[in-house]
Amino acid sequence: MIDKLKKYLKEVENFYSENSTEIEAFRISYAGKKGILSSLFSSFRDIPPEQKKNYGKELNKLKEAVSLKVEYLKSKSKWESKKSKINDPTRTSFQIQSGNRHPLSIVKKRIIDIFTQIGFSISEGPEIEDDWHNFTALNLPPHHPARDMQDTFFIQTNPDILLRTHTSSVQVRHMESNKPPIRTISPGRVFRNEAISSRAHCIFHQIEGLYIAKDVSFADLKQTLKYFTESLFGNSNIRLRPSYFPFTEPSAEVDIYWGLETEIDYRITKGTGWLEIMGCGMVDPNVMENCGINPKDYSGFAFGMGIERIAMLLYQISDIRLFFENDVRFLKQFKATL
Ligand code: PHE
Repeated sequence: MIDKLKKYLKEVENFYSENSTEIEAFRISYAGKKGILSSLFSSFRDIPPEQKKNYGKELNKLKEAVSLKVEYLKSKSKWESKKSKINDPTRTSFQIQSGNRHPLSIVKKRIIDIFTQIGFSISEGPEIEDDWHNFTALNLPPHHPARDMQDTFFIQTNPDILLRTHTSSVQVRHMESNKPPIRTISPGRVFRNEAISSRAHCIFHQIEGLYIAKDVSFADLKQTLKYFTESLFGNSNIRLRPSYFPFTEPSAEVDIYWGLETEIDYRITKGTGWLEIMGCGMVDPNVMENCGINPKDYSGFAFGMGIERIAMLLYQISDIRLFFENDVRFLKQFKATL
């Protein structure tokens, strides 16, 4: 009996095939319901008791050899057939999952590209700011009521230090260290002490723009904004609604005509067809003076927008929190053509 087992073991060890049908036939002949192993196991009870231990050991050895052989040959034959299909045999056989850009990065890059094409540079600054750059230089002296427009995170031990509430602070820094003509955009992360909801988050992203030169007019501002909305939304139908910002005079909100064709259009435009996309205005002379630029020699405009808001409009996303939760099922949907 033991000799028979040893003969089978040799047979298993010598078996080789790269053909999956042959391998399967081999598996069935040994490990199938009516296969060799099953009949060997059932003959176990006929083995004399003193040989049982040895027989059992050899039988288990055979069983293991069969399953190892089948596993090895199957994976080898899979690899062989795959190998013949790919040109690069050094390539990994595992599927490579490539990631993609975050929707906010995609939109940020598109906005940056639009402005750099017309000569704007990119400027960046610190997220932890001082009072001067975030507020005072921007015509928001201490105790000015308009400071309430931007709920602020202060550093408890030093009320002069805060998390910037907008990237206008970067423009102040840029004006302080550069002479006109100035044409720059400042993308970056900003912070406001707001209750988180589907429309508000305490961390979000902005892109602000600043243009200072000789004889810059409100018409220049409007034309730049038309160019921008046409490039991004394919729609240059905008209107400027009078508004108030302490750092610009006059100030306006920019609305884009979205249309009123579908129910969604009615909902997101609150039945007006218009959507607010950013704030803008002519740089207040006080701001220029604070930054060392003579407002008698120069004039300029500024604008600022939230990247999340623009991305929500472009991709029709109704909850801002999705950008921060980073659920891969959400992120996977955005393919950038960069
Ligand atoms: N800084 C403003 C904000 O954060 C946006 C803005 C920038 C408005 C420039 C006008 C001019 O809301």
